[in-house]
Amino acid sequence: MDTMKSARKNETGEVGSDLSEQIKAATKDNHVRAENTQLMLSYQKGEITLVQYKVLLCSLYEIYRALEDELDRNASHPAVAPIYFPQELARVESLERDLEHFFGSEWRKRVIVPAATLRYGHRLRQIGRENPELLVAHAYTRYLGDLSGGQVLGKITQKSLGLSSKEGLSFFHFPGVSSPNRFKQLYRSRMNSIELTEKEKAAVLEEAVQAFELNIQVFDDLQKMLSVATETADQHKDRSPAAVLPSSPIVQFTVGLCVALATIGVGMYAL
Ligand code: HEM
Repeated sequence: MDTMKSARKNETGEVGSDLSEQIKAATKDNHVRAENTQLMLSYQKGEITLVQYKVLLCSLYEIYRALEDELDRNASHPAVAPIYFPQELARVESLERDLEHFFGSEWRKRVIVPAATLRYGHRLRQIGRENPELLVAHAYTRYLGDLSGGQVLGKITQKSLGLSSKEGLSFFHFPGVSSPNRFKQLYRSRMNSIELTEKEKAAVLEEAVQAFELNIQVFDDLQKMLSVATETADQHKDRSPAAVLPSSPIVQFTVGLCVALATIGVGMYAL
């Protein structure tokens, strides 16, 4: 399997047998692919739009709800306890604050996620029930990502959207982590202390690759959803003066988003 091949290949080089090193080596190519999704490229170019950020927040909320529900439920599992840091890392409440900031008090009714996000959530809930030792792969992928490139993305979001305060940006802030680098070192050492059989370790590496792929699919679906929505809104704009649709860009965009949801099979639901 590719994952094992890449972990083994590197073992003969500078990569040791620690889980933290192997997981980084095994997901190296997937990290590059994630960085090169259209959504992440928009970020790196400093071109993130408010709509992109809002739909991303909706999906992150669904993902972290599933991840943190399962981490909480399995907090005393021997493969979860060492990497269980709810005070320092939990993101659900910060995402709720950001969603309320952008969508208002009725934000729960306005959370829209694509099918890929639902699949990601289902996977997290499934492994939480059936193979909690795999949760470390998902916690690593999200939290260490948030504490690495994520910190830069926070600054880009603030700049791109012209936000003057930190409102709407809670997701990127970890008040319980004074030094992301030191915390990442601690997290890695905790990962390395988890006792896993060779078979379980291989499954964790494979799951980490899947975790990156699930993220990539979410970014791709979000981008498709936004492209279809924008195109639809543009088409309707051209149909004036007899346009049946209201002329406000926001309403046009919302109508476009609904068409996009139908087009790419999106889950839209009230939480
Ligand atoms: C614009 C997109 C991204 C950029 C610029 C970026 C950048 C970075 C950088 C600079 C590091 C630190 C590397 C190191 O310390 O050796 C890092 C680490 C990491 N990133 Fe990303 N990243 C991006 C997207 C993502 C995404 C989408 C994910 C997963 C969902 C992710 C997951 C990770 C993880 C898990 C680590 C920790 C690696 C380790 O030390 O084991 N990144 N990223």
